[in-house]
Amino acid sequence: MVELNSEAARISELAASGERMVERLRHQSILPETRKTLTVTWGIAEVAQFLGCSTNRIRQAETDGRLPPAPDGRRQGYSIDQVLNMREVLDASPRRGPNDRPAIIAVQNFKGGVGKSTVTTHLAHSLAVTGYRVLVVDCDSQATTTTLFGFNPHFNVSREETLYPYLSIDPTQADLLYAVQKTPWPNVDIIPSNLELFDVEYELAAQGADGNSVLVTRFRKLKAGLQDLARNYDVVLLDPPPALGTISLAVMQAANALLVPLAATTPDFCSTVQFLSMMEQVIGQLELGNIEVNFDFVRLICSKFNSGDPSHEMVRQIMEQTFGPALLPVPIFESAEISHAAMRMMTVYELDKPIGAPKTHKRCRTNLDEALGQVEQLIRSSWGRVSPASPQEIIHEAV
Ligand SMILES: Nc1ncnc2c1ncn2[C@@H]1O[C@H](COP(=O)(O)OP(=O)(O)O)[C@@H](O)[C@H]1O
Ligand SMILES: [Mg+2]
Repeated sequence: MVELNSEAARISELAASGERMVERLRHQSILPETRKTLTVTWGIAEVAQFLGCSTNRIRQAETDGRLPPAPDGRRQGYSIDQVLNMREVLDASPRRGPNDRPAIIAVQNFKGGVGKSTVTTHLAHSLAVTGYRVLVVDCDSQATTTTLFGFNPHFNVSREETLYPYLSIDPTQADLLYAVQKTPWPNVDIIPSNLELFDVEYELAAQGADGNSVLVTRFRKLKAGLQDLARNYDVVLLDPPPALGTISLAVMQAANALLVPLAATTPDFCSTVQFLSMMEQVIGQLELGNIEVNFDFVRLICSKFNSGDPSHEMVRQIMEQTFGPALLPVPIFESAEISHAAMRMMTVYELDKPIGAPKTHKRCRTNLDEALGQVEQLIRSSWGRVSPASPQEIIHEAV
């Protein structure tokens, strides 16, 4: 056996020390194993805004018995179940019609740290509040999205619960139903991931000359499996790994829409340009192999914008000039609420009270609603639907 030199041997010390710390943090509940409940509630004004109706309409339905009595005197504590029930009773469900194809959106960029998982999870929860049925598929072995849904991939997700048994070279599952798990949100499900999903990539590398046919089989499988599942949802969100591998390619052609997050920095801009060139080449190759890639929309979203930083403003202008209307006009602001919520394995939509100053929280939520609302509009236009009323119109109606 080859002897490791002392610096290389240090890696095992570091790993062991890291494992001990993870265990300690877990013990002190700083690193929770799992989080099962959703405690966030909303006030009547906000609920009316989600539903696109007046607060009077809700009060009226509570008075005439179509809705259960208000949860408290001040009507401040509506749960997600109550909001979803309200949608049914007041006929305010935004669900797709039977002939509308479910939106299958890849939130993709080959760069890590651009906000893919942050956008995926916040978009899922924002669509859930708005009443859509959402499936989130964590296709990244780094499993940040899985974590933000309150699962700790380190402790409570096994390889058998990920996409692996379906995409493996020796598949043990014929469809994807086995992998769908409930989340704390009644209308959001997830297919979780963990580090072992990376075995899919190893297996392909080991195939040598047969690699291509394995690749094509996996493309077809992921697409077919997701299309099957998508029948039960309005929107499917795919969070692929930040690299060009089997899963990334399979996601690209299983999706029918593409959302590319990037921060307003020069490195993100440059690597996104590379990503787009690579996409173009890959799509060309796929089409040569008779594999169709078909998107209802392709948009870029600035995912970490700091308006107080002049360099961000500069890069955003460059992005606008370069991408034109493909860049969504409203960026997601960089916010401590987002990073603090992430530490608690949550999104901002799940916080029952602000972590920082109430003003910071409010600004963050308002911005997320607006930025992610742009994506909702794209989904609705792919179904040929008219836009729901704007918040201004709703407020006007409520007065
Ligand atoms: N708008 C934002 N405001 C503050 N922090 C953010 C924002 N978007 C992402 N982050 C943080 O940046 C880091 C990388 O984001 P992540 O979504 O994990 O990127 P990716 O999935 O592309 O690797 C995370 O720590 C996340 O909390
Ligand atoms: Mg990620």
